[in-house]
Amino acid sequence: MNNIKKIDSSPIIEAQGLKKYYKRGIETIKALDGVSLKIHAGEMVSILGPSGSGKTTLMNLLSCLDAPDAGELLVAGRSVAGVSEEELVEVRQGVLGFVFQKFHLLPTLTVAENVELPLMFLRRKVDREKTMAILRQVDLENRAGHLPRELSGGQMQRVAIARALISDSQVVIADEPTGNLDRANGEAVFALFRRLVKEKNLAVVVTTHNVALGELADRVITLEDGRILQQKINSAIL
Ligand SMILES: Nc1ncnc2c1ncn2[C@@H]1O[C@H](COP(=O)(O)OP(=O)(O)O)[C@@H](O)[C@H]1O
Ligand SMILES: [Mg+2]
Repeated sequence: MNNIKKIDSSPIIEAQGLKKYYKRGIETIKALDGVSLKIHAGEMVSILGPSGSGKTTLMNLLSCLDAPDAGELLVAGRSVAGVSEEELVEVRQGVLGFVFQKFHLLPTLTVAENVELPLMFLRRKVDREKTMAILRQVDLENRAGHLPRELSGGQMQRVAIARALISDSQVVIADEPTGNLDRANGEAVFALFRRLVKEKNLAVVVTTHNVALGELADRVITLEDGRILQQKINSAIL
């Protein structure tokens, strides 16, 4: 089977030589020590690596939650170095969606309301039909009125994924999204990402400890001591 995908767009995220150092006493921890990568629409990239290899640090930089000590980062063609907090918020909200290990759902809101929450911060109108369409994409249409406590862990994470999509994000950044899930639910989350990448031309960057899950991505980037140890291409060819 020919599984070569044609990628015709410029990268949605372009990182060049990202560094992030932390001081601990007299010691300098090179959490990230010169990482360069490109992420395109329509591809799923997994970041593998042992605990402490810099996965979360990298995801926080790609998310524009944290600024690098050195290096360049372009998100949707815009350099995010030295831009104002306001502009950064604009870049994050218009382009990026986030999924975390802990689902961070509000317990007193229904599934639909949790999904719609980002729209409140963006001061955008809630469109329940759109919410339902996104819930359909994550196979939770029949849970819209339920509270988080009535869901399984796998379902809760799918609500969090729907919430990451509600503001028309082009990239989903997911840090250990399967860390609190059993194997079957972890696989379901990765399968869902795969489907969203294909159906919505989304870009997904996902970290995991689980090598078998990581292999389901188009590209697998392995970090070690804050550097890219290896990069393996499974299906996306530039
Ligand atoms: N805020 C911080 N202050 C000091 N050291 C940190 C901080 N964040 C991360 N580190 C260190 O940076 C390294 C990489 O951490 P992290 O990015 O969390 O790795 P991973 O997500 O792969 O487990 C680790 O040695 C960690 O202890
Ligand atoms: Mg981590």
